[in-house]
Amino acid sequence: MSTRSAAARKEKPMNPTPRIKAAVLGCTGLVGRQFIRMLDAHPYFELVALSSSPRSAGKVYSRAVSEEAGPPIPEVVRLMVVREGTVEAVMRSGARVVFSALPASAAAVVEPELRRQGLFVFSNASSRRMDTDVPLLIPEVNPDHLELARDQVRRCGAAIITNSNCSTAGLVMVLKPLQDLGLRSVTVSTYQAVSGAGRRGLAAMDIAANVIPFIRDEEEKLIRETAKILGRLEFGRVEPGGPEVNASCCRVPVREGHLLGLRLDFVTDIELRDAEAALADFRGRPQERGLPSAPERPVIVRSEEDRPQPVLDAWAGWPARARGMAVSVGRLRKRGRSMGCFALVHNLVRGAAGSCLLGAELALSQGYFD
Ligand SMILES: NC(=O)c1ccc[n+]([C@@H]2O[C@H](COP(=O)([O-])OP(=O)(O)OC[C@H]3O[C@@H](n4cnc5c(N)ncnc54)[C@H](OP(=O)(O)O)[C@@H]3O)[C@@H](O)[C@H]2O)c1
Repeated sequence: MSTRSAAARKEKPMNPTPRIKAAVLGCTGLVGRQFIRMLDAHPYFELVALSSSPRSAGKVYSRAVSEEAGPPIPEVVRLMVVREGTVEAVMRSGARVVFSALPASAAAVVEPELRRQGLFVFSNASSRRMDTDVPLLIPEVNPDHLELARDQVRRCGAAIITNSNCSTAGLVMVLKPLQDLGLRSVTVSTYQAVSGAGRRGLAAMDIAANVIPFIRDEEEKLIRETAKILGRLEFGRVEPGGPEVNASCCRVPVREGHLLGLRLDFVTDIELRDAEAALADFRGRPQERGLPSAPERPVIVRSEEDRPQPVLDAWAGWPARARGMAVSVGRLRKRGRSMGCFALVHNLVRGAAGSCLLGAELALSQGYFD
């Protein structure tokens, strides 16, 4: 282990005893299943309740989802009965923290009500991401924005904390380390996996051997969410910032992992080795604090001519709890003041459940649940 990572692990916060009771909403969906995988034997959170739509409510979990498709089902949830996704059902479970993988329409109703009842909600849904008092958190990139949640806690006794859209999570992990080199604008083309559309997202006949050059609202989300995440926190509000973003998004017949083709324009001529070093050396507050789901290296720079690839690199990240949390970058090349590269993000992990859970670990380490 390097001196840096050894030092970082020493700062690990004390594990809470007993662990904080947590519920997963949308437990049968693609993101919900990743939450359940990552919460198995988690040192900070104890999974006490699962909820879903009336379609799955009342079934034991191992009957509500397919054993074969998706990650293995942890023993502790195998016989747990899936509850209906109502506020009352979640309240009865005794959960203090809720991890939400609900569709935006359901989240818009349930999440504010759970907050009103004093529960902390960590959400993947897009419904509250742009609210001025809601952190849009990618923990390595803008940990200071968590401060916005204090305002909610003062008013409501709890808070909603969101993470970004899946492609945005990969994009900001690359932009953040390069900002100090004078980054002016980025043009991103995405090649997004079908799992990004959810379990019932696309008809097989539409996507098999095809590319669809349209994903509703995706380009708009990439632009506005990047500006909020890279914005500056001033007087309790985020002033949008970061480089100008241009985006074109496609759906491709890949199972998991969004590939992003990037053209980055800088104010001055940069050295490729400086950009490579900035990416490879990037570390954030989760690494400093040794949080359980933090990858030791949040950005992994690949030197091979044909990487990163979704099949080979989507699960990048170490230690084991942080698999899928690292963004892989490769094919770095430069022409004048422009640099090209490809980045790969696991849409269900770093792009969804993983960033959300890491946000909760960060909040806990900063005393939000004391
Ligand atoms: N997929 C991604 O890559 C990704 C990335 C970032 C963010 N997100 C966001 O994360 C959320 C979940 O995405 P997903 O891909 O996991 O979707 P999904 O596979 O379609 O799963 C949706 C889950 O929500 C439940 N549900 C649906 N309607 C409900 C209702 N009215 N009340 C209670 N539960 C309801 C479903 O239960 P049943 O199984 O019983 O129908 C299922 O458990 C969405 O807001 C999405 O935009 C997804």
